[in-house]
Amino acid sequence: MFEPGPKMIRVGRENPVNSRPRGRLEMLPMGYTDLQSFIADLESRGQVRRVCAKVDAILEISEIVDRVSKLPAAGEAPPPLTDPVHGTRGGYGLVFENVKGSDIPVAINLLGSYERMRLALGVDRFETLAERVHHLVKPQMPTTMLDKMRKLPQLARMASYGPKVVKRGMCQEVVHTDNANLLSLPVIQCWPHDGEAGYGARPADATEGTGRFFTFAGIYTKDPESGDRNVGMYRVQVYGRKRAAMHWHVHHDGARHCRKYKARGEKMPVAIVLGGEPVLTYAATCPLPPDMSELLFAGFLNEGGIELVGCKTVPLEVPVNAEIVVEGWVDPRELIWEGPFGDHTGFYSLADRYPALTVTAITHRKNPVFPATIVGPPPQEDYYLGKATERIFLPLLQMLIPDVIDYSLPMFGAFHNCVFVKIRKEYPMQARRVMSSIWGAGQMSFCKMIVVVDEHVDVHDEQDVFFHMGANVDWRRDTMIVDGPCDILDHATPYYGSGAKIGIDATRKISGEGLVREFPEALEMSKKVRDLVDGRWSEYGIS
Ligand SMILES: Cc1cc2nc3c(=O)[nH]c(=O)nc-3n(C[C@H](O)[C@H](O)[C@H](O)COP(=O)(O)O)c2cc1C
Repeated sequence: MFEPGPKMIRVGRENPVNSRPRGRLEMLPMGYTDLQSFIADLESRGQVRRVCAKVDAILEISEIVDRVSKLPAAGEAPPPLTDPVHGTRGGYGLVFENVKGSDIPVAINLLGSYERMRLALGVDRFETLAERVHHLVKPQMPTTMLDKMRKLPQLARMASYGPKVVKRGMCQEVVHTDNANLLSLPVIQCWPHDGEAGYGARPADATEGTGRFFTFAGIYTKDPESGDRNVGMYRVQVYGRKRAAMHWHVHHDGARHCRKYKARGEKMPVAIVLGGEPVLTYAATCPLPPDMSELLFAGFLNEGGIELVGCKTVPLEVPVNAEIVVEGWVDPRELIWEGPFGDHTGFYSLADRYPALTVTAITHRKNPVFPATIVGPPPQEDYYLGKATERIFLPLLQMLIPDVIDYSLPMFGAFHNCVFVKIRKEYPMQARRVMSSIWGAGQMSFCKMIVVVDEHVDVHDEQDVFFHMGANVDWRRDTMIVDGPCDILDHATPYYGSGAKIGIDATRKISGEGLVREFPEALEMSKKVRDLVDGRWSEYGIS
């Protein structure tokens, strides 16, 4: 009864919200129910290739995926010459059918292009979701009775977005407790020194553990006080059959929950969830405020609540449609060496001490697929997750900082290293106010370089941003260096998680911003001449 038959797979239902910008007459899915239906749909679109050759989960898969992720994206038009970065890469998703030492296939790079990321979210523009988020955070209040009546279906739909707990789930078709064995799963090793004793701050005698990490799992935890659920994507290092290390950063909710269990002197239940509705994988990476549920957000994205089932050995609930679930307990007092790990910064993140997990069960559907990702020098799959977030969360950022017209997290910045922000400048030092606000805004606070530009600059065009930075900035007057919390993965900071960030005001300077000589006008042809040349273009015989 748990096999998702054609009726459950909502792939292929037309999504009326979307328009097709590239004129393809193609049905968009409106919420995949599970990972395998997503893979099947990607495959039918030529977005997934199956590898039948026997491959090693240790490094070999990683090297293949690294190469494929840098290929032109399947099914996407080559980028225009003026746009060398956007939409260029990503190759295709891969399913490795024959992985040494495990009979479970590995699926990887499934979200590793704009197209596949959009498909996972059921839209052909991330902006469609941004508009829905905008309506959510800035609802238009109905004034007339008729308006109120019209809002009722919308309210009813919103009420259905919350998770629902049911009695049974596909993810528990097979249950292993005493015989649970992490080493039977095709957990990959991504980079050569991952988990190596004596490398990257890991002491030479810290030999327990492997170089294999869960890299694409949602980690489910519960706040012991409020009972609020959290889902975060944190890597997990496999130590042995029933032992692993949890790499949740000190700033993230998993770590916050862990501190609370520690203060209460209690052990912490944890579930590692692989697969499920693809929106769940995305939601696990989203920078939501601590008390906003990723499960509710996933239900909002999918336009339907996520179904959960109670775990077998821990007091948590997990998505019924997951492929594999690892259940266990963390003793917050027991810290073990985790890492090093080749990270999305393009460098190894150093080993440190993180809580140990003791596994009590592994449950899975019949014939599961194991999702994984590799991170490393961009672009990798996480770049597209980040780009989706950049677009979808713009309305939330604008709610916090209304000056922001648009922003971009450029690929080279590996998320936290750089943000370009566009504002409509109206008063002196406005760019600095924006910088300070960003450094106070959730996970944006970790950004170590902010460049603020005027509204005519295209923040998605690095050349345009650097052109204005080169032209408009006096480095002494227009920069601000502050100290603050930094991303845990930042290896350049003098201290772990703490260091300096720079703000660069590349806007046009006005009085009140230090010594400003007359600021010249930017070059622009008159409209009259542009119209003339437009009208006569064919006469010139140039193209
Ligand atoms: C591929 C990938 C791997 C990640 N690995 C980790 C990790 O190991 N530890 C961590 O704390 N955050 C990691 N993150 C970032 C978090 O998933 C992200 O910041 C999320 O918003 C945290 O959720 P939380 O605020 O509910 O804790 C990763 C993100 C991605 C896309």
